[in-house]
Amino acid sequence: MSDTKKTNPKIIIAVDGYSSCGKSTFAKAIAARLGYIFIDTGAMYRAVTLYALEHGAIRSGMVDEEAVVKLLGEISITFRFNPQRGASDIYVNGDLVEGKIRTIEVSNCVSQVSAIPEVRHKLVAMQQEMGRRRGVVMDGRDIGTVVFPDAELKLFMTADPKVRAERRYKELREKGMEVSLEEIERNVRERDKADMSRAVSPLRQAEDAIVLDNSHMTVDEQMTWFLDRFARVTRQHPDR
Ligand code: DC
Repeated sequence: MSDTKKTNPKIIIAVDGYSSCGKSTFAKAIAARLGYIFIDTGAMYRAVTLYALEHGAIRSGMVDEEAVVKLLGEISITFRFNPQRGASDIYVNGDLVEGKIRTIEVSNCVSQVSAIPEVRHKLVAMQQEMGRRRGVVMDGRDIGTVVFPDAELKLFMTADPKVRAERRYKELREKGMEVSLEEIERNVRERDKADMSRAVSPLRQAEDAIVLDNSHMTVDEQMTWFLDRFARVTRQHPDR
């Protein structure tokens, strides 16, 4: 494996797709395998949402878009590698927020916050800067279409909504959160709808993306599938 790491060409791998279909888990595994940097762009939209919740720009689930835009100038997002997790933790203005951004409160408001053009503008510019040197795996909704339309390898991940809801339910319950499966399934379906129908950078499959439906695949099976694609793509880009 160290050999693979040494000789790996540095390309951009865009992992887009529906919510809760294991994009981050898979993107993180790919990055570890290739010695690439992993960037979870959903965490960035979640961090802005959390900040808005904590600073009065979202009250009783209602997002005040103007107030969110006003807060944007005071939000600085950074990532720091956490060797224990084998991935980077997200910080807002120097505060670690990794554990706070995945609650159902944030999940319920994040689609609306991420549809605000100014929010997207700021975060997309940050993501483009992070991937400037290539050698990154970036997961999100618009990576292959907007952030890096020239990414050498684009995956579009999908899975049955019921399977996705069950996976997220298990994950949140394991973290001790009190949630119901119905509530999670509703959130998954609503976010899909909102992400696909927003005016700015809606979730859609890039024309040159490869679809990966992982409803019935383990991470190991997905990895085997992926490494085959990676080898094919990098043969076409010997210069990278
Ligand atoms: O991947 P996730 O579920 O943590 O993402 C949270 C939300 O952020 C998702 O509902 C849509 C939004 N998002 C986005 O609009 N664009 C991205 N590149 C990543 C996430």
